[in-house]
Amino acid sequence: MKHLIFAFVAGCLVLACSKEKVEQEVGEARQNSSQLNPNGDSELALLMRSMTTYMEVIKDSLQKEAPIPECPTEFEALMVAKETEGMIKDRNHFNAYADQWLSDLNQVCTSSGSNRVKAYERLRSSCLNCHQSYCQGPIPKIQRLSIQNP
Ligand code: HEC
Repeated sequence: MKHLIFAFVAGCLVLACSKEKVEQEVGEARQNSSQLNPNGDSELALLMRSMTTYMEVIKDSLQKEAPIPECPTEFEALMVAKETEGMIKDRNHFNAYADQWLSDLNQVCTSSGSNRVKAYERLRSSCLNCHQSYCQGPIPKIQRLSIQNP
């Protein structure tokens, strides 16, 4: 009987322990996902994500020779969006790249046919140019956005 009680108590302890572990794991998973959560990211990082999505949409449309969506205006926020701390040391230098990118975007929106494909590739180069100076991580992703060398 003593053994049985012992086994029962020990069993409970193990259960309690594993429950705690599960809770801990859930907590960790939450923490990880909050890093992906909009609230944890800079405005600029979020804007970059929607710029990337935009590029994917345009690439897809160009490949299908389908019309592209209306020219977005929200990307002008590039000039003012708050970056992750320490990412941009000289805002004027950064904004020169941003300005070039926005003007290349305008070219994509206002051109057509094969000129639009060329304009798209120039826009993508503008992404790369800025990234070579500021944030090298996404460069492979930007390279994959190419239409000419898929
Ligand atoms: C004017 C400079 C500049 C241009 C142009 C630019 N980027 Fe970025 N990008 C940055 C900086 C700086 C960061 C880091 C942002 C931060 O962490 O606050 C970044 C971050 C990113 C990220 C990571 C976002 C994340 O989830 O943290 C991706 C992906 C990205 N850019 C893709 C692109 C693509 C695609 C283009 C072109 C359509 C582009 N970028 C154009 C400067 C630029």
